Amino acid sequence: MSKLKTMTLEWTGDAVIFIDQRKLPLEEVYVKCTNHFDTFTAIKDMIVRGAPAIGASAAFGYVLGAKEFRGELGSEKGIDHMKKVKEKLASSRPTAVNLFWALERMHKTFLENASSDNTIDILEKEALAIAFEDIEVNMAIGRNGSELLRDGDTVLTHCNAGALATVDYGTALGVIRAAVEAGKRISVFADETRPYLQGARLTAWELMKDGIDVTLISDNMAGWVMSQGKIDAVVVGADRIAANGDVANKIGTYSVAVLAQRHGIPFYVAAPLSTIDLSTPTGKEIPIEERSHKEITHVQGIQVAPHNVKCYNPAFDVTPWNLVTGIITEKGVVRPPYNVTLKNLFD
Ligand code: MRU
Repeated sequence: MSKLKTMTLEWTGDAVIFIDQRKLPLEEVYVKCTNHFDTFTAIKDMIVRGAPAIGASAAFGYVLGAKEFRGELGSEKGIDHMKKVKEKLASSRPTAVNLFWALERMHKTFLENASSDNTIDILEKEALAIAFEDIEVNMAIGRNGSELLRDGDTVLTHCNAGALATVDYGTALGVIRAAVEAGKRISVFADETRPYLQGARLTAWELMKDGIDVTLISDNMAGWVMSQGKIDAVVVGADRIAANGDVANKIGTYSVAVLAQRHGIPFYVAAPLSTIDLSTPTGKEIPIEERSHKEITHVQGIQVAPHNVKCYNPAFDVTPWNLVTGIITEKGVVRPPYNVTLKNLFD
């Protein structure tokens, strides 16, 4: 059976190994998961994060869950076990729809092949297909999005929608990579992305590794930087896009979109079809994860707020569709009215 190794994850056949994104950029440490419980924890604790990356990770976790079962996977007990594996992995994080999309795809494959002699091989093949497809899809998103950028443009991005947030290449950073590969001179402003600092820790690290010009700013500088005429376009990723085009992405994305509109700067969302959830009518129905208050009161383990202060820590926000200039997908760039154009992508 073929294997897979990227910066984000490695599938060995018996385990999925992640670069520990909590430790980047200061340490490059790897975490090995040999069962679906460990994979659940890796997603929940954000050892691996980013919507497409957690989808593929859950698919490998599902294969590990199948390997854990002793007995006939096609038996009532086997089918019940796999339902529990799916539910456990699905309970790791609530907002990114790619997680549920990948698990549904794995579970459907399982139910169709539960009585086969080689169910586990079939599941492993499906998980690898999800992962390899993600890389191809990101490259297509990159090609489609790069046409929106001109030589000399400066792009502002938020959070990390790069290779680390996907199996490889990235969505928003894939657009930037593809434009650079096409010979355009592109500079990037990366928001640090409080409170978890995905921009400072991951986007800056990833782009510097690739030799792409990146300037780090704290989130509250974005408006001023735009007002100085320094930004030509905003490109971000997404965790879930509702049928009407509302976009859930990392907390702070909404503020960037409002600022972009104020300054007449195009605001693009780069995302695969697996992030578009036509069964969720609008952003109001998207579940928004709330995370530990410690993420706000502490910075890298150091307390910066009074003990026991009241906190609110939503990990995502929703940008209304009318602030989104275009959604860059593997099938092309769509524009409003999103309730029509997004649906057309699936026809
Ligand atoms: O909480 P995270 O780090 O998993 O959030 C990640 C994001 O919000 C990304 O922008 C999104 O998943 C798109 S990744 C291609």
